[in-house]
Amino acid sequence: MQFDIITIFPEIFDSYLKTSIISRAIKAGLIKIKIHNLRDWTKDLHKTVDDRPYGGGPGMVMKVEPIYKAIEAIKRTKRLSSKKRKIILFTPRGKKFNQKLAFSLSKLNQLILICGRYEGIDERVAKYIADETISTGDYVLMGGELPAMITIETVARLIPGVLGKPQLLKERITKERGFIEYPQYTRPEVFSPRLRRGQVKKRKKWKVPKVLLSGDHKKIAQWRKKHSKIISSCVCRRIEN
Ligand SMILES: C[S@@+](CC[C@H](N)C(=O)[O-])C[C@H]1O[C@@H](n2cnc3c(N)ncnc32)[C@H](O)[C@@H]1O
Repeated sequence: MQFDIITIFPEIFDSYLKTSIISRAIKAGLIKIKIHNLRDWTKDLHKTVDDRPYGGGPGMVMKVEPIYKAIEAIKRTKRLSSKKRKIILFTPRGKKFNQKLAFSLSKLNQLILICGRYEGIDERVAKYIADETISTGDYVLMGGELPAMITIETVARLIPGVLGKPQLLKERITKERGFIEYPQYTRPEVFSPRLRRGQVKKRKKWKVPKVLLSGDHKKIAQWRKKHSKIISSCVCRRIEN
């Protein structure tokens, strides 16, 4: 899987790509992430990527031309059928991102991610260039860089080998491509937060549920099932018992 990110702030991704599982997956050759500075596809001295909106109004709008050129250049570097690649534009008006969409994206070979900035992007990018518009939630961010990272993380962890333990994924994916999530605990068995000076209350004891310490795998599985939620579409639902 190759992720190509088009942004005017490439430096945002510097530490992200060097960290943890993502960096290991890159080193292991399981994923490739290429960052493209949109300004490299401008012609003028100031490397202008934005202009005033037609019809007036506040703020600036990202121009279609540099984005078109960037996409065409990126496509030329990797010969692929259009079924194996998707061009994604991030916008709060897009399709809501969820686990199911992440699954379908994880089956592709290349994702080209367009990160917007300013007041938005010339609508012709959504209309004629992007295959999909994605929103990560009902809020307006300053740019598409965080949505790009969210997409990469959610999709990359579904690629075999990235998490290191294939059985972990197998056990937790449902038939409808939802993801099973349950509460997790680790040592110590009992944690007692310190009382602040002058506090007269009894010291609290935060305990791990007994069943998880029992070593009884059947009971543990039942407990996890009972407390699981399936993350699939916009809503989380409880697993039916
Ligand atoms: C200030 S927003 C502009 C929003 C613009 N009016 C629009 O409808 O796309 C700047 C950029 O941040 C990104 N963005 C903001 N909120 C987002 C969200 N909820 N989901 C995905 N991308 C978002 C988009 O790439 C957007 O072009």
